[in-house]
Amino acid sequence: MPDYRRKATREAMSIRVDFNGMMSDAIGATGVAPAEIDALEPRIKEVTRNLEAQRAAGEIGFYDLPTQKDAVAEVKELAAELRQESDTLVVLGIGGSALGTKTIIGALDTDRRVIVADNVDPWTFGKLVDEVDLTRTTFNVISKSGETAETMSQFLIIRDLLLRTFGAVDYTKHVVITTDAESGALRQVVHDEGFRSLPIPAGVGGRFSVLTAVGLLPAAFAGVRIDDLLNGAAWMDQRCHQSDIRRNPAHLFGACLYLADTRHDQNVVVLMPYSDRLQYLAAWFAQLWAESLGKDQSIDGAAVNVGQTPVAALGATDQHSLVQLFAEGPADKVVVMIRVDDHGREMAIPSGYADLETLSYLGGTGLGTLINLEQRATELALVKKKKPVVTILAPQVDAFTLGQLFFFFEVAVAFAGGLYRINPFNQPGVEEGKRLTYGQMGRKGFEEKRAEVEAWTKSKRSDYVV
Ligand code: PA5
Repeated sequence: MPDYRRKATREAMSIRVDFNGMMSDAIGATGVAPAEIDALEPRIKEVTRNLEAQRAAGEIGFYDLPTQKDAVAEVKELAAELRQESDTLVVLGIGGSALGTKTIIGALDTDRRVIVADNVDPWTFGKLVDEVDLTRTTFNVISKSGETAETMSQFLIIRDLLLRTFGAVDYTKHVVITTDAESGALRQVVHDEGFRSLPIPAGVGGRFSVLTAVGLLPAAFAGVRIDDLLNGAAWMDQRCHQSDIRRNPAHLFGACLYLADTRHDQNVVVLMPYSDRLQYLAAWFAQLWAESLGKDQSIDGAAVNVGQTPVAALGATDQHSLVQLFAEGPADKVVVMIRVDDHGREMAIPSGYADLETLSYLGGTGLGTLINLEQRATELALVKKKKPVVTILAPQVDAFTLGQLFFFFEVAVAFAGGLYRINPFNQPGVEEGKRLTYGQMGRKGFEEKRAEVEAWTKSKRSDYVV
């Protein structure tokens, strides 16, 4: 296809971000004023320059993922093998090693089953183990660090089961490991036992890893066109190369949410797709926004407590649950809606009850029309209450759209992190909980942590437990 036509197709498949509902022109003082963006311009320029420099130095790995040709070839080859061997892929992973895959599998058409086991609830995991047909199943163990307690416990259970079922020689055929290329216990296990494996690039953290083998292998196994995912991301990357913030969707999104939080006390951000297929995107986004921006130290070591609390919602369902609070509760939220033009099918609503005005108006339209009109109506209802709303317009839900959305939010959070002057790529706040768990589980070197948990438990007053 000639370049100009490809570009025209991509323009037509582009997501658009409509900021009208969060600007002061529409909602007055609770909205972001154009002058606030102008005043932030020097910081915007500085953050843009810093991100470009870090990217050029190879310090922000996710930026390079849309063009990783060798890694993609490796993923495709392994996926083709697994599709011969198995009908089901069970992903054992948590957080960034699970939510991207859940999003892809929840959104797109698939021709093989992918199950993501991302919790250690014995009821759910036990049921999965009871029901899965081991002979036609591959287990994809995914962990960047290679030592996450939840994932490793699942792996030990599955390994034991496979060993007992297939014996020491054949059991490895049912496991594929996705982990850091060099380090960690899982990489050691790959070396020692010869499991098939794929690498996670060193500079890509868990919540930014959906476009590595972490998300791409399960996607390719399920029959998803992974080139389209990456092309969508590459297209968004191109759109985010604008130094003019007003033409750069992800930078403008990051800047507007930063201003909403720091100038207007709107420290909650709701992601509300009007599409069941994008429900898990809201969970993926929540992790990305929370772990990246929730920090108590700036990059210069100053004490801060920053970050917007993300909330995952679903339209139209949550219009009957959360929207009352969004409309009339505290003015502390920005609601980000996603509207999908073409839902992939339409379901006509038949006419009926011509004599009942409360029902008859529904006939002759369709569910796709209804859900989109409800989005528009709720957007305006919130705007009328002076509550900020951003609407992301997606032409359809496909791999190209998802690739754009993943990359858009990743760039936006990196940019917002720069404005907050924090490091959006680490997550030190979750480490203490892990150490206290290790202590209780009897891991060597964590005896003090065990003692701390025991002391806390002993110190609890019984009259406060009601
Ligand atoms: O974003 C992150 O780094 C985390 O949420 C991780 O993805 C999560 O803790 C799982 O870690 P790992 O992939 O090392 O098992």
